[in-house]
Amino acid sequence: MSQIQEVKDATDIVTIIGERLTLQRAGSYYKANCPFHSERSPSFFVNEVIQRYKCYGCGEHGDVFEFLEKYEGLTFYETLKYLAEKAGVTLKEQVRTKDDELRDEVLAALNLAKEYYHYLLITHEVGAPAREYLKNRGISTAMIKHFGVGYSLDSWDGLLTFLEKKKKISPKVLLAAGLVITGKTNRSYDRFRGRIMFPLKNNRGQVVGFSGRTLDSDAKEAKYINSPETMVYHKSSLLFGYSEQLQEIRKAKTMIVVEGEFDVISSVQAHVPNIVAIKGSAFTKEQARLVARLVETVYLSLDTDAAGVKATKEALKVLKPHEIDVRVIKIPEGKDPDELARHHPKEWREATKRSISVYEFLLESALKQHDHTAPEGKRAIMKEIAPYISEITHAVEREHYITLLASALKVKQDVVRSDVAMYSSKKPKVAERAADQDQRATTDNAKAEQRPLSGRERNERYSLFLLFLHEESDIPIKALELKELQFTYPGAQKLITLLQEYGKKLANTQQKFSLRAFSQQLPSDLQQLLLEVTTNPELISLSQSLDLSKEWKHTIKDLKQSSAQLEVERIAARLEELDEISELSPEEEAEQQELLQKIVTLKHQSV
Ligand code: CTP
Ligand code: MN
Repeated sequence: MSQIQEVKDATDIVTIIGERLTLQRAGSYYKANCPFHSERSPSFFVNEVIQRYKCYGCGEHGDVFEFLEKYEGLTFYETLKYLAEKAGVTLKEQVRTKDDELRDEVLAALNLAKEYYHYLLITHEVGAPAREYLKNRGISTAMIKHFGVGYSLDSWDGLLTFLEKKKKISPKVLLAAGLVITGKTNRSYDRFRGRIMFPLKNNRGQVVGFSGRTLDSDAKEAKYINSPETMVYHKSSLLFGYSEQLQEIRKAKTMIVVEGEFDVISSVQAHVPNIVAIKGSAFTKEQARLVARLVETVYLSLDTDAAGVKATKEALKVLKPHEIDVRVIKIPEGKDPDELARHHPKEWREATKRSISVYEFLLESALKQHDHTAPEGKRAIMKEIAPYISEITHAVEREHYITLLASALKVKQDVVRSDVAMYSSKKPKVAERAADQDQRATTDNAKAEQRPLSGRERNERYSLFLLFLHEESDIPIKALELKELQFTYPGAQKLITLLQEYGKKLANTQQKFSLRAFSQQLPSDLQQLLLEVTTNPELISLSQSLDLSKEWKHTIKDLKQSSAQLEVERIAARLEELDEISELSPEEEAEQQELLQKIVTLKHQSV
């Protein structure tokens, strides 16, 4: 047995998912609110026997490995390692690929770099100017430790010497970690020099990169530089502070989003702990997904200038599809949360409690930007705001902003309402487009699921559902009754054939049938099919009130009839073809005779 199978056998998907989501038991399966999209009633199903899950809302599906990879952002190898450890299985080294090895080495190098930078800042004499700098910015030692802040030596090879000479880390790993740069002469040198170093951690708290700030604001170089994209650092899915503040965010059930590292650190120091930073770039879909997992309300406190308004709109676009309530914390013009938190911590704490809805914020900023008394100003304001108002899902809430907008512009509500309506019908909604893109990311299987089924396919699916409702030991016997039917539902014919063969093998060796054992030796697409026919919310709701043996007979009869009907149609078409041939060959004549015979028998069956 492969080690992967060994780990899988020793793992229970219900336990693993149950440690992360609240699962409700409902007969032979469990359900929960889907962690991969936002919803209020559960359409995420986990089947214990088949050891797979499926969300009937967004289409996400898979086994325990796929769940952890998606939910925790783990690689396959990390998942395997995690599950093996939990199950007490010792992995042989060959399971690791070269990439897995490099990845581990890269992470180890980054962690050592973090410790090195931190040591220089905290203890070493070369760190004195950096300590002085942070002291001037009011950052406490406790915060420096909490975020693992460090200092990089102002030299070409400070880190390089430490990691290569002392820690024997290979140049390849240093390069892959983004810690060094290779110059034209092929000589490597430190990427970060003479900077305050902020470790950037992924959602599981592993150091994946750094950002570094100069001590000298007048320097010609960029104020901040960041790690490049590497196999572990993905700018678009990183939120600074996410892993450090995770518990606090969970506790608060809300999250404040700011621009930069210092905004986060000063805030935490000022006792505003549920906070993360987007590091001066646009809020991404990946970040929105991380956020949606934890909270239902997000407070944005981005810059107050035009760029800040734009960033707020962008954030709204990616958060809206997750049904997250987006609000804005306003702070005095020209200040950033860092300054406020440092100089007026109480004011910052209070500001975080006085948020306004993002729509109010957008309205206010549009009113500031344009002259709302002039017709062209009114038009400009409408143009800016209406697309967002039109996307508010709840009518009552939408009406609220229509009223606000009408009174601000001093025009009739009806006029505003019809203008807003125009935007909503004009083009695909921004939010929908973002959601669409998310949908596209889900698998082909989900698409197949969304395709409307034909009557025949619905019947086939129902017959499979009924088949597996039988006593476990009866299933292979009942499967034989489906023998002559040609299933058209994708994968169904294969599943039945395998089930019949499996049943025969068991009969020969006098073993008892177990659905779990049967499902475990299936390829994963058929396992998924099995889950979908047995754990289908549409059908499950029927199963309480149904007379199984009657339904089973009925359905098979229906399927037989429609099979016969299909066959009749096929034969009739062929006979018509043969009719049109003026002189039939002996073979064609024989075929004609055979088909005529067949059609008589079939017609008997299909009535
Ligand atoms: N940033 C960056 N690269 C730059 C400039 C900025 O990655 N060249 C990111 C940093 O995370 C920074 C954030 O964008 O914190 C916001 O930039 P800015 O407002 O210019 O800096 P502040 O946060 O005010 O930084 P500081 O207080 O250190 O001056
Ligand atoms: Mn600042």
